[in-house]
Amino acid sequence: MKFSKRTHTCGELRETNVNDKVVLNGWVDSTRNLGGVLFVNIRDRYGVTQVLFEESSQPEVYKNAREARSEFVVSVEGEVRKRSEDAINTKMPTGLIEVVGSKILILNEAETPPFVIKNNVEANEDLKLKYRYLDLRRPEMRDNMILRHKMYQSVRNYFDKQDFLEIETPILMKSTPEGARDFLVPSRLHKGKFYALPQSPQQYKQLLMVSGFDRYFQIVKCFRDEDFRADRQPEFTQIDVEMSFVDTEDIFEVMEGLMKKLFKDLKNYELETPIPRLTYAEALENYGSDKPDLRFEMKLTTLNDVVKNSEFRVFNDTINNGGIVTSVVAKGCADYSRSQIDQLTAHAKKYGAGGLVWMKVKDGAIDSPVAKFLSAEILTGIISATKAEENDLILIIAGPKTKSLTSMGAVRLELAKKNNLIDPNSEPKLLWVVDFPLFEWDEETERFYAMHHPFTSPRIEDFEKMDSAPGEVRARAYDLVLNGSEIAGGSIRIHDSAQQAKMFKALGISDEEAQMKFGFLMNAFKFGAPPHGGIAFGFDRLVMLFAGENSIRDVIAFPKTASGISLMDESPSPVDEGQLKDLHINIREN
Ligand code: AMO
Repeated sequence: MKFSKRTHTCGELRETNVNDKVVLNGWVDSTRNLGGVLFVNIRDRYGVTQVLFEESSQPEVYKNAREARSEFVVSVEGEVRKRSEDAINTKMPTGLIEVVGSKILILNEAETPPFVIKNNVEANEDLKLKYRYLDLRRPEMRDNMILRHKMYQSVRNYFDKQDFLEIETPILMKSTPEGARDFLVPSRLHKGKFYALPQSPQQYKQLLMVSGFDRYFQIVKCFRDEDFRADRQPEFTQIDVEMSFVDTEDIFEVMEGLMKKLFKDLKNYELETPIPRLTYAEALENYGSDKPDLRFEMKLTTLNDVVKNSEFRVFNDTINNGGIVTSVVAKGCADYSRSQIDQLTAHAKKYGAGGLVWMKVKDGAIDSPVAKFLSAEILTGIISATKAEENDLILIIAGPKTKSLTSMGAVRLELAKKNNLIDPNSEPKLLWVVDFPLFEWDEETERFYAMHHPFTSPRIEDFEKMDSAPGEVRARAYDLVLNGSEIAGGSIRIHDSAQQAKMFKALGISDEEAQMKFGFLMNAFKFGAPPHGGIAFGFDRLVMLFAGENSIRDVIAFPKTASGISLMDESPSPVDEGQLKDLHINIREN
């Protein structure tokens, strides 16, 4: 079908265009018939323009226009005119003008969409994911895609100017599971063998350092077969970075420069640097989290010294077992009901706390079911240590250190949510968390795992504890946190093959296993590996936070559901017998 191509986009026309003859191409956003005058709003990715058709002056055109329904694709010709005072719409960038239509051509019809294409539409999320291409027509989603695009450009521009090279690394690689599970791809040509999709380009970027590409970055897809959460997807995008001849400070400087630029380019906000730092131990003790949200204060207070001589068994046993008694103050919450406190207790238990002790500060005294076990001196000690005031609610968790602190951290966040302590328009709060432990003990398998990954270097002064007290070794690893979300993680790497072998040993990975899985990296290290380190940003998370969304699905064009399914193309899906045969695969029944 021959049609007139647009002279302007649907977001472009202004008062300066009055009397211009224009052509618009787009979708019918909405129609309104006032009897003899038909208003048709035309939408494209740039905006919406109001076109009107008058029966009295152009009966034929008016008749044609009446055929147009929502989401039909049309080409419209007409003349721009200024809207009358009472018809001006200040909410629309094109709201000062309208186009008087002289021709309309329906380029394609559309079925009635399964949901109305408007912002804040109340439609079931699954339905929107099934018809994702329609959901992407909504201005909100379109804006998210535009923001994402701008962020790609900003990132590339920044690294290019800083002498970084963007180098692509393979998507089909060797399976080296450590951390999450790999997605596997069976080989047709090599029976019984598999490629894996990269969980991150970690090993390749380290190899690139051996090759001498001392400043590398890549905006790259990563794949992890793990259980999903709102801020996770099985395939996601990283801004991956590696640098040679650097220490932590150099990496922080480059990354702070990147954050400054992103805030400037995308939010027109001047971010102050240097970004503050907390050690992992401080973050945990003060906020009960390794990614604390600093948009509100509400610090935890450790009470071990205050309660150490009490009659209360829970506190005593905890302290004798090397645990912690941690507390938080909910300001002005002394009137919380039984059920409100029960809800908080359930929340704390979900995160591993044994229970939640409460104390209400009323009339200068403490009202609490455990008050009878605590001396007056201890009760006053608790009030002064926590700085609680009249009408405050003190909450206490006692138990093993990490579990108690993280569950109190969860209570802290829950209280902030319930009491609206986080101002959505508050300044962004960025934070480096440093000195992570190198190893993490897993109760179930009774072995140490690398907290970050097995290529992370220990702090030099802790190196001698690698054999004697691995749990105490600190890593040269860091995370960048924005408003309580981990947006990036990285480390200075081990660049010596003997040290790397020692690390594998500490992780219980045998020489043969290490050789089989990581032999190529360890061999490469024998050929002159420079000191190096790097970081990777969760790109989707970053866009999500900049867009003010709550789920990374909202900033990914075609995301998977929480259970890893694409409702649109219905993947994963069965494949036919022939394909399986080619790949030498039989499906097991169990
Ligand atoms: P890490 O595993 O910490 O580090 O990942 C870096 C960042 O990627 C984001 N991220 C995710 N985003 C969405 N969905 C997921 N499933 C997901 N998993 C991680 C997070 C995280 O901070 N190779 C190292 C980096 C390095 O050491 O240089 C790595 O991948 O925002």
